[in-house]
Amino acid sequence: MRKLATSMTALATLFIATQAQAEDVEVLHWWTSGGEAAALNVLKGDLESQGIGWQDMPVAGGGGTQAMTVLRARVTAGNPPTAVQMLGFDILDWAKEGALADLNILAGMEGWDAVVPEALQQFAKHDGKWVSAPVNVHSTNWVWANKAVLDELGIAVPTTWDEFVAALEAVKASGKTAIAHGGQAWQDATVFDAVVMSTGGLDFYKSAFIDLDEDALGSDTMKEAFDRMGVIRSYVDDNFSGRDWNLATAMVINGDAAFQMMGDWAKGEFLNAGKVPDQDFLCFRFPGTQEQVTFNADQFAMFAQGPEVGKEQAALATAILSPSFQSAFNVVKGSVPARTDVSNEAFDACGKKGMADLKAAAASGNLVGSMAHGHANPASVKNAIYDVVTAHFNGEYDSAAAVDELVTAVQINK
Ligand code: GAL
Repeated sequence: MRKLATSMTALATLFIATQAQAEDVEVLHWWTSGGEAAALNVLKGDLESQGIGWQDMPVAGGGGTQAMTVLRARVTAGNPPTAVQMLGFDILDWAKEGALADLNILAGMEGWDAVVPEALQQFAKHDGKWVSAPVNVHSTNWVWANKAVLDELGIAVPTTWDEFVAALEAVKASGKTAIAHGGQAWQDATVFDAVVMSTGGLDFYKSAFIDLDEDALGSDTMKEAFDRMGVIRSYVDDNFSGRDWNLATAMVINGDAAFQMMGDWAKGEFLNAGKVPDQDFLCFRFPGTQEQVTFNADQFAMFAQGPEVGKEQAALATAILSPSFQSAFNVVKGSVPARTDVSNEAFDACGKKGMADLKAAAASGNLVGSMAHGHANPASVKNAIYDVVTAHFNGEYDSAAAVDELVTAVQINK
């Protein structure tokens, strides 16, 4: 009885807090491209309409590596931002340090447990407590194509690795760039997610990246995956090094390149440029991964400012989890909702496919966390894998050496 009364009081306090005049939120994020900024404006607008000010703290750099470095510096200086865009294991790492606010009362009031997919809850909860608000579900095993370029060259959507290589060859022969790619470690790793899944299949991907099994990491299958990365490398243009991902997407949008392998945030760039799926561009799963989804979900973690979650933090979390926001935001961002009860009506063809793929993959056990985006292993391991993949992509190692380096790097960092 006493326990009930205490939690009722806490509930009432929180309710009053969320209703009261809130402070500004300071939000650290890496959504700086045109499509990402357009999506972020949906969230800013939502909060501003509730009278909550938005202090923007953007840290450019896809995948969030730089943002996480800035975050560490801010926390070390004793001045963490109110809310931080975060992925997978990073959320759990900060929760273990006791840095994140407890969102359990809010989550209970709003019934998050019943609507957020289990795969996301694994990263949104620590010790049974909600510590972050899931914004979306992205996935990394997509290919984006310029439809006019494919039509002109008579290229059908490739469904196997061999068909894909034949398509790349046909584009190269036409004088265009076959693959638009940005040579940054996280982008190389994003391609590697799909290549490893396609080369070895679901169980292999899990053994290598989730279980960090040495036999899988050191196998001939892994060597084959590196060989395929070498094939991909032979179809990118000479200026790929250091290029930002959205500039690579622009090459496909403009018809300078045929394909980009990238998560579905790339769709936000196409939409921002006024392009329409199936008309101007195509989205399809990386050949050989049609049944699988390698996901990454953006979440906003709230840094604890005191014993109670801040009222502006609660308001932000409530806004993020609302079904109408989940639809409006994800339609623009290229991702799909982080709730299972949102209609697909407002979504375009790629969004509808993304939602259907996610549902099917979750039901069949084919939904697995993205290594490249921090949903397979902690940052220390992820970064060690990045280093090997990038060094190989840039010709520092052949495939056999890359396999050896991978085993060693994971052993040292896990
Ligand atoms: C991912 C993030 C996406 C997108 C992408 C490129 O890590 O989950 O939302 O922003 O980086 O910046």
